Amino acid sequence: MSRISYLWSLLKSAARKGETDDANKLALVEHVTANAPRGDIDAAIKLIDEFGSRTAFLMNIGDEKGELLDDAVRRARPQIALELGAFCGYSGLRIARSAPEGSRLYSVEMNPFNAEVATRIWEHAGVADRVAAVVGAIDDGKTLGRLTDEFAVGPGSVDFLFIDHHQPCYLPDLLQLLGAGLLRPGATVLADNVGFPGSPKYRKHMREHEGVDWQTVEHKTHLEYQSFVPDLVLESTYLGEKA
Ligand SMILES: C[S@@+](CC[C@H](N)C(=O)[O-])C[C@H]1O[C@@H](n2cnc3c(N)ncnc32)[C@H](O)[C@@H]1O
Repeated sequence: MSRISYLWSLLKSAARKGETDDANKLALVEHVTANAPRGDIDAAIKLIDEFGSRTAFLMNIGDEKGELLDDAVRRARPQIALELGAFCGYSGLRIARSAPEGSRLYSVEMNPFNAEVATRIWEHAGVADRVAAVVGAIDDGKTLGRLTDEFAVGPGSVDFLFIDHHQPCYLPDLLQLLGAGLLRPGATVLADNVGFPGSPKYRKHMREHEGVDWQTVEHKTHLEYQSFVPDLVLESTYLGEKA
């Protein structure tokens, strides 16, 4: 049995012992691997959306806000993209689908179970050669260094950053990435859930820095998989370090 299969069987049995949230994630993997043809990204995305709408709530960016993500990636044409928060790999699929050939996405995910779930979905959809989960967090004192040492994330190399993890970490993690010089001037940063649950400090920072080192468009939208809770997605262009 390979290391991945062994880890997967351990995780499956852990989830069966009553961790319902993780059981839902496993059900999602089964749903996608059983019903989407191997290598079909569109089918995998559609099946995840159906599962999120009908079976169990999933905190994916979802179909409505997913179109904002697709458009932003198409405009940015990233060679190197970074994501904070992989969850089950849904936004990773959308980024991989819209990014140009030869691009790479590194998705920083602190929960190893989620990273494993996302990796299974990426493998099935045929994008695992260009999308990788990095287990950790930007503020853990290790992951930032690993991005440069183990992955191709050098100074000024990140063309696109998707922030979708823990709202209080949005601004501090962005500032750490900037401090490490990873973002290329001209890079796009897309931040989900700035309206709900909300990241007021991130929004305030972008407003105060408008035209200085950032240029931001606020997209009015809705929380994933429903149409009555309003949300905001912020799309910001990094203008470079101010003199
Ligand atoms: C909203 S979900 C991500 C959804 C995903 N981007 C999508 O749209 O398909 C948030 C994820 O961030 C992870 N997370 C929370 N805090 C984190 C942190 N500080 N660093 C990295 N990942 C974190 C959670 O484990 C969870 O999987």
